[in-house]
This record gives sequence, C-alpha cells and structure tokens, in this order.
Amino acid sequence: MTQNIKMTKIPEHVTIIMDGNGRWAKRRGLERLEGHKAGVESVREAAEFAAENGIKFLSLFAFSEENWNRPQSEINGLMELMIDAIISEKKTLIDNKIKFRVVGDKSRLTDTLNAKIDEIEKITSVNNHLTLIVFLSYSGKWDILQAARKYAHMIDDGTATLDVPLTNELMDSLLSTHGIPDPDLLIRTSGEQRISNYLLWQCAYTEFYFTDILWPDFRKNDFKRAIDTFSERERRYGKTGEQINKIK
Ligand code: FPP
Repeated sequence: MTQNIKMTKIPEHVTIIMDGNGRWAKRRGLERLEGHKAGVESVREAAEFAAENGIKFLSLFAFSEENWNRPQSEINGLMELMIDAIISEKKTLIDNKIKFRVVGDKSRLTDTLNAKIDEIEKITSVNNHLTLIVFLSYSGKWDILQAARKYAHMIDDGTATLDVPLTNELMDSLLSTHGIPDPDLLIRTSGEQRISNYLLWQCAYTEFYFTDILWPDFRKNDFKRAIDTFSERERRYGKTGEQINKIK
C-alpha cells in the first residue's frame, strides 16, 4: 500500500540497526533464524517506504564483524537468507530503479554470496532512484583501520606525503562508505540504545532514534514516526540556535 506522507524534513540518508530478531522468535517459541526470516519483510517495507518518500539512501546493518562469533548454524542460515533475498528481490530492485550496494569486509563472505552481490551491484549500478546499502561483515573500527592502512600505503608509495595534513575529506575517501553521504538519521529497534561498533566516523552528526519495536514488527508507520521525530529536531552542528536561525 502506498503511504505517502507530508513531512517537513526528509533525511537524505537513513540508516537502521535492525535489532530484535532473536527476541521476536524466542517470544514465539521459534528458532532465531525464523526471526531473521521475518525481518526480511521489514526490510522490504522499509525500502518501499524510503522509495515512496524521497529518501535517497537507505542503509541497513545486517551483519557485524562481531556477528561472526555467533553459532555457525545461525551464521550459515543468515548467509543463505541474504543469497535468497538477493535472488528473490532482484526483479523488484531493477523495476524500482534501486541501486544496491554491499559494504563491509567482503573477503570473509563465501564465493557464492560474493558472486551474487557482484552481479546485483553491477546490474543496478545505473539506477538512481534509491540507493539501498547493506552493511555486511562490517564494523566501524574495521572501516577506520582499513582506511588507516590505505593511507599508510599511500605514504609508502608516495601518493600521499606527511607534509600535507590528512583531512576529513581524504579520510572520507578512504573509508568503505566513500560516495555515500553520512547518515542524517540512525534508527535502532528493540530498545537497545548504543551504536555497537557501527558507523563510528560517519555518525559524527547523525540524529539517533530508538524504538522498543522489534525489527520483524517494524512497519511503515513506525518509520514515519521516526521521520516525524527527526523533522522536529534542530541540527546545530556545534553552532548556536541563533546562528542556525539566521541561516534559515
Ligand atoms: C539483529 O537481531 C539482526 C541481525 C543480526 C540480522 C539482520 C538480518 C536480517 C533482517 C536478514 C535480512 C537482511 C537483508 C538485508 C536481506 P538479533 O539476532 O541480534 O536479535 P536479538 O538481539 O533479539 O537476539
């Protein structure tokens, strides 16, 4: 169902920490994987909502570096779920002109999953309606470390020099999120209120919105509520309220 809504401020980039799948399943006496499967429907709804309401970038934290420490059966189930979701959503992504990207340490993913990701990234690369980013095998500290290693190589091979200071812009370009604007709004479901080693550099001025709703229950109305709250926030970026009002 289309649910266009009147909103004063539409964030350009919304990122979501999809949390609570395990608890959702446990409450129903189901295996944890059933919670992840139910979460795929919420992914679909969130992407639809973003596309319908002019959000340009929607990113989802699907699997952290730390999640590799989960039981192997859950990891395998989650990876298969990703492959299935890419296969089953391929047509929807193409039809709706959605650009699909995966960001994270892809070297830890299986060849099968990497092949599927490469294929769908290539096919959808020309799309420009909504960019849907899935963070997979990602952590904020990993990202900063890989950027630091790239910079060290640049010093080593002479493409950077210590005489020229490392800037925010250069750092942005070295991060795995280069080309993606920093999130305006971060939503975390399930009542947890922490960043869990997610986009540490990129969330410097992101607005945070926490909800008790478990991810498999997160629907368009819940997304709308988050956007409404975001609309009411005054983003000052370290300036005073008076300075911001003058700019308006
Ligand atoms: C966190 O809940 C959720 C995850 C680690 C996996 C999220 C993955 C999906 C929803 C699968 C589909 C994704 C895409 C992009 C197709 P949790 O297991 O930590 O829940 P708990 O805190 O209640 O145990």
